[in-house]
Amino acid sequence: MQVRVLYVSRAVGPQTTTVTASVLSTAREYNRANGITGVLCQGQGLYLQVLEGERSAVNALYARIVADRRHRDVEMLHLEEITRRRYPDWSMAHVVLSDDDPMIGMKHPEFDPYSATGVFVLRLVDELVASGHRIELPPA
Ligand SMILES: Cc1cc2nc3c(=O)[nH]c(=O)nc-3n(C[C@H](O)[C@H](O)[C@H](O)COP(=O)(O)O)c2cc1C
Repeated sequence: MQVRVLYVSRAVGPQTTTVTASVLSTAREYNRANGITGVLCQGQGLYLQVLEGERSAVNALYARIVADRRHRDVEMLHLEEITRRRYPDWSMAHVVLSDDDPMIGMKHPEFDPYSATGVFVLRLVDELVASGHRIELPPA
């Protein structure tokens, strides 16, 4: 059985793209080996991550991620059983938002993932992926 999970967290220390890229280069190996796909968005000191895969694999990874001290306040916003993945080809895509991103700032002025519904935040992640933000895809 496959699931999709969405969580939010706050970065500890400066959230540079270099730090996250180095986290992700090892993460992608693990994800490939364990059948995990998804997207990691970062910006404004926050991470939003979608993880898809077998339920047990997603749970095991989520537990590792929660214990990671490079972020805090990890809060699961959404979990659903799925028959199809949204991001089947991405061992972990990386979407970087600038601090004054109009997507968040103007379109969603009161956006606070810690108080928004999971479905709303999931839709926002989809919008970000679809709207031509700089997305770094894992090498094929
Ligand atoms: C925001 C964030 C997202 C992460 N995403 C993943 C991921 O998709 N896959 C992965 O294997 N590790 C990911 N990690 C790294 C894990 O938290 C963890 O460091 C890694 O799995 C190694 O685990 P270990 O230290 O228990 O060996 C992420 C870390 C952070 C801070």
